[in-house]
Amino acid sequence: MEKSKEDKEDKSEDLIDPEKLPDHIGIIMDGNGRWAKKRFLPRTAGHTAGVKKVREIVEECVELNIAHLTLYAFSKENWKRPKDEVSKLMQLLTIYLRKEIKSLNENWVRIKILGDIEELPKQAISEVQNAVETTKDNSKLTLNLALNYGSRQEITRAFKGIYTDIENNMLDIEDVTTELISDYLYTKNQPDLDLIIRTSGEQRISNFMLYQAAYSEFDFVETLWPDFTRKHLRRSIVKFQNRNRRYGGI
Ligand code: FPP
Repeated sequence: MEKSKEDKEDKSEDLIDPEKLPDHIGIIMDGNGRWAKKRFLPRTAGHTAGVKKVREIVEECVELNIAHLTLYAFSKENWKRPKDEVSKLMQLLTIYLRKEIKSLNENWVRIKILGDIEELPKQAISEVQNAVETTKDNSKLTLNLALNYGSRQEITRAFKGIYTDIENNMLDIEDVTTELISDYLYTKNQPDLDLIIRTSGEQRISNFMLYQAAYSEFDFVETLWPDFTRKHLRRSIVKFQNRNRRYGGI
């Protein structure tokens, strides 16, 4: 995507310390509906605009050498939305993957899915599986798409996995540590979230990666997701780098 004049002139990236990059950024992309409402457009127009931002932010993460990015694309609770809106979101996801797969692959982006994809529409499932398979050996940016995702459900699934493995004598109760629990989450072998950004001014976690967010820094930005740019991302990273992370120490 072409950088705007404003973006090219913005020098905040000069302040980013490449030695202190967040290893894993999570984004709760919020405000598509409000963005559309302000323009007297249907809510789905906000989601369409939101996809453009997905493209821009993924590209910026590749340029900045961010290793892991998780985007909260569709929550377990989002099924409660009107049918039309749900199918539009699924359609947008399918088209995004179909259109972007080549360029994602060329940029060494590895796609991972966090969530129960079996419950998605058939076409979305096959596009998602194709994207995961095509990009599985890439090692630059891991792009996690949280789809039909809920953190409590993910933790419940982990409990069941651990219990089953104990019952089958593959695991001992003493083996259960905080690290082992991480290995039963969708984010197995990935670092915890360093930075969580939520757009649109809402200050909630909304069932997003509760276990992986234990020591995350938060940035709640007022900007609605369709207005969020690479410049906002860089600002969030600079703010993150200026925080003093103590992990309970002094
Ligand atoms: C929240 O805005 C946004 C969502 C529920 C969906 C996010 C999805 C996309 C940006 C597009 C598809 C994603 C990919 C990865 C291609 P909202 O509708 O809750 O906004 P509101 O709070 O203003 O109503």
